[in-house]
Amino acid sequence: MTGLRKAGANWVDGDRFFDRKAELDVLRARVQNGTHTLLTAQRRMGKTSLVRELLRLLAAEGRFETVFVDLEDVRTAADAVVEIGVESRHVHGAWARIRSGFANVLRGIEDRIDELAVAEVRVKLRAGIDPGNWRQKGDAVCAALAKNESPVVLALDELPILVNRMLKDEDYRTTPAGKQDVDEFLSWLRKIGQDHRQRICLILSGSIGLEPILRQAGLSAHANIFSPLDLKPWNEKTALDCLAALAETCDLNLPLAAREEMCRRLRCLVPHHVQRFFDSLDESLRLDGRRRASLDDVERVYTAEMLSIRGQADLDH
Ligand SMILES: Nc1ncnc2c1ncn2[C@@H]1O[C@H](COP(=O)(O)OP(=O)(O)OP(=O)(O)O)[C@@H](O)[C@H]1O
Ligand SMILES: [Mg+2]
Repeated sequence: MTGLRKAGANWVDGDRFFDRKAELDVLRARVQNGTHTLLTAQRRMGKTSLVRELLRLLAAEGRFETVFVDLEDVRTAADAVVEIGVESRHVHGAWARIRSGFANVLRGIEDRIDELAVAEVRVKLRAGIDPGNWRQKGDAVCAALAKNESPVVLALDELPILVNRMLKDEDYRTTPAGKQDVDEFLSWLRKIGQDHRQRICLILSGSIGLEPILRQAGLSAHANIFSPLDLKPWNEKTALDCLAALAETCDLNLPLAAREEMCRRLRCLVPHHVQRFFDSLDESLRLDGRRRASLDDVERVYTAEMLSIRGQADLDH
C-alpha cells in the first residue's frame, strides 16, 4: 500500500486523497460521454477534492485538458468570465487563442506565465471584460477552449455561491435585477454546454444546492442540462480503512476497536470530520508521549475536542 498523507486545511488530491473510487468512475464515464454534471453535497464532504482528483487523473492520462475555476470570491458574470479566462492559461492551445483574441489588453503577456504574472493577467482581462460585453467575451474564451486539440473539462466550483450573490441584495432578498443577471448568466452557461458538447464538459459544484436557489427564483429550467450527483458521506468500511492508513503514516497504533468507536461517535462519516478526529487523537497522544490509542483515548478526545469543534463553523452542516 502506498501511504496516505495527512490532509491539511484545504482540499486534497493525489497521495492525500482516499478512495471515492466509485464516484471517480461515475464522473469519468460522464466526462467521456460529454455529460455535464452538477455535484452537490453538504459542506466538507469532499466535493472540491473529488473534482480536483478527477482533473489530476484526467490530465495525467492526457486525453483531456482541464480547467478548474473557483467562483467563491466572484461577484458578477463578467468576473466569472475573467476567471475562466485566467485559469485557461494552462491549456496551451486555448491560451494562444485567448491571447490573440484579447491582444488589445494582453499585449506583452507571455505564452507561459508565472504566478506573479497571473495577477497581472487578471487585472488586464478585467479591463477588457465588462457588464456590456461579458457574453461575447465569454463566448470567445469558450470557443478558444472548444477549439483546443483535446477536449476540455471545465470545472466551476462554488457556482451556487455566485448565483446566490447575484440574486440577492444586502438583506438577502431576491431582486428583479439579480434575477435577470442570474437568468442571463445561466442561459449563457447552458448555451456553452450545448454548443460545445463533446468539446467542453462542465462540472458544476457547490456546498449549497443550486436547485433550491433556482426554484425560489423561478429559474429551475436552467439546471436541466446538468445531471445531478450527490456526494454521500463515507461508509464505515471506507472510514475505517482511511483511519488505518492515516495511523500507519503517523506510526500510531490504532486498533480496530478504537477505529470502530471513532466511527460510532461520529455517526455521519463526513471525510473532513474523520480527518479532524484522527488529527486530534494523534496530537493528544503525542503530547502525552504515547503511540497507542485506547477506547478511553477515543472517548476523551471526542468529548474534549470534537464536541467543542462541533460548535465551530467548519463542522456546521
Ligand atoms: N477523498 C478524501 N480523502 C481524504 N480526505 C478527504 C477526502 N475528501 C475530503 N477529505 C477531507 O475533507 C476536507 C474537506 O475537503 P473539500 O474541501 O474537498 O470538501 P468540500 O466539500 O469541497 O468542502 P466545502 O463545502 O467547504 O467547499 C479535506 O481537507 C480533507 O481533510
Ligand atoms: Mg469545496
